[in-house]
Amino acid sequence: MNEEYKRLQLLIKEAEDNVPNDDECLYRNSFHISPPTGWLNDPNGLCQMDGEYHLFFQYSPLDARGGMKAWGHYVTKDFVNVTYLGAPFVPDKDFDRNGVYSGSSFVDEEGMHIFYTGNVKLPGEYDYTYSGRRADTILVESKDGRTFTDKKVVIDTDEYPDGFSCHIRDPKVWKQGDSYYMVLGARTINDEGRILVYRSYDMLKWTLTEIIGSHEKFGYMWECPDYFALDNMHVISFSPQGLETCELRYQNIYQSGYIIDECNSLDKDFSFSNINDIEASGENAPKRFILDESTFEEWDMGFDFYAPQTFLDENGRRILIGWAGVPDAEYSNLEVETEKRQHCFTVPRLLNIKVGVDGKNKVFQTPISEIDNLRIGDGIIIKPKSAFISDTGLMDILCDNLPDVFSVNIGDGVNFSYDGELISLELNNKCGLGRKLRKAKLSKINSIRILVDSSIIEYYINDGEIVFTTRFYKNEQKVKAFFDMDEADITIYQMKSMTMK
Ligand code: FRU
Repeated sequence: MNEEYKRLQLLIKEAEDNVPNDDECLYRNSFHISPPTGWLNDPNGLCQMDGEYHLFFQYSPLDARGGMKAWGHYVTKDFVNVTYLGAPFVPDKDFDRNGVYSGSSFVDEEGMHIFYTGNVKLPGEYDYTYSGRRADTILVESKDGRTFTDKKVVIDTDEYPDGFSCHIRDPKVWKQGDSYYMVLGARTINDEGRILVYRSYDMLKWTLTEIIGSHEKFGYMWECPDYFALDNMHVISFSPQGLETCELRYQNIYQSGYIIDECNSLDKDFSFSNINDIEASGENAPKRFILDESTFEEWDMGFDFYAPQTFLDENGRRILIGWAGVPDAEYSNLEVETEKRQHCFTVPRLLNIKVGVDGKNKVFQTPISEIDNLRIGDGIIIKPKSAFISDTGLMDILCDNLPDVFSVNIGDGVNFSYDGELISLELNNKCGLGRKLRKAKLSKINSIRILVDSSIIEYYINDGEIVFTTRFYKNEQKVKAFFDMDEADITIYQMKSMTMK
């Protein structure tokens, strides 16, 4: 623990001690994890070890508008009782002095192996995209999830391949066969997104083995890559920046999505069979893989979603958590000024591959079953064409057997509608603060589950075939939901808060 670590911890403690009480915070979410104070972005280092889930996050505790990036740390055994354990990693070393950037945890019998990017901006006249930035990959380990070894650089910036800009970051590590693999998000000097795949036998020495690209240019930078097996297929997930907005796709400033490899066999080595494998030119040169970007599916069609990360829990569930926010968005959040806080996670989502109503394989996302434990009492049955008012404003709404045309209105201006083909999520300016309209096409909606928290709503359509996430801002605690539809089975559970220590 060096002097800088101690200095930053004192500042963080002071900031965390100076937040308004939760009962004065209308917009602090009750079952969506938010930072103790300040700004939260990407979920980091998600894992389960000895029964306990560790949820780290990009944390700027000193300013709700962002700034110094550290890692905050929550633990929970049940996603109902959640404990904050502080900010274990702060920018206290030369190699991470401008930010402890995103990364992941890999857990084995030895404990937790955490990899992250040390962001460094060299002093001088630089653009920090093509010059002047370092981004070493750093390892920290822990046997107990509470105490951590010293930080160690395992890939030095100078070892990254030629032809890349300074934007290389966000290591995600897993084990396959007898090797460890790491994917890193990257931007080439020609502004094309790439994923670098490294391989190691000891987690210390890493060799670049593959570079993944796309047929056509697909954005200038791919952040937060992830790769995992799911239901006998492989999935590559990443967050591309620089895609052009189309009417029904890429409607946010930056995107997050996935590509499924339907290979049906889990190989010992890293592979992705439905992409062209262009052999490397030299014997030790990395192989080049080309993804079919036309099969990219967005994780979430709402306004507030970015940089998700997945992990495998001890029950074999593949769980995804997203940041319910987007960098550089043109819309804003109301909790910043009064509550000294900004952003939250989505609820954890269980992933499975299923065939969607349009006949294609998709990754379906459903809230993990622990969320059901926050329901209070029996469900309340609501008639179509009627309204329900929740005094706490916390609801889990289930709508089944929906007609071809319907809408659901929540609060004072969040309208979700379907016309038999097109889904629209529309917010008025008062509750959307710049969030206007998001659309998606789907040939049939059978069911929707709507999670309504203090200032976020998540819509899970057809058991998670499509998901929409949006923040929303109300004037008072209670929230009205109105169901404009001729028929449907509607059940509402009021929800209680997670307990936060
Ligand atoms: C994604 C991201 C990552 C980076 C982190 C910094 O939101 O830009 O690429 O590591 O945030 O906070």
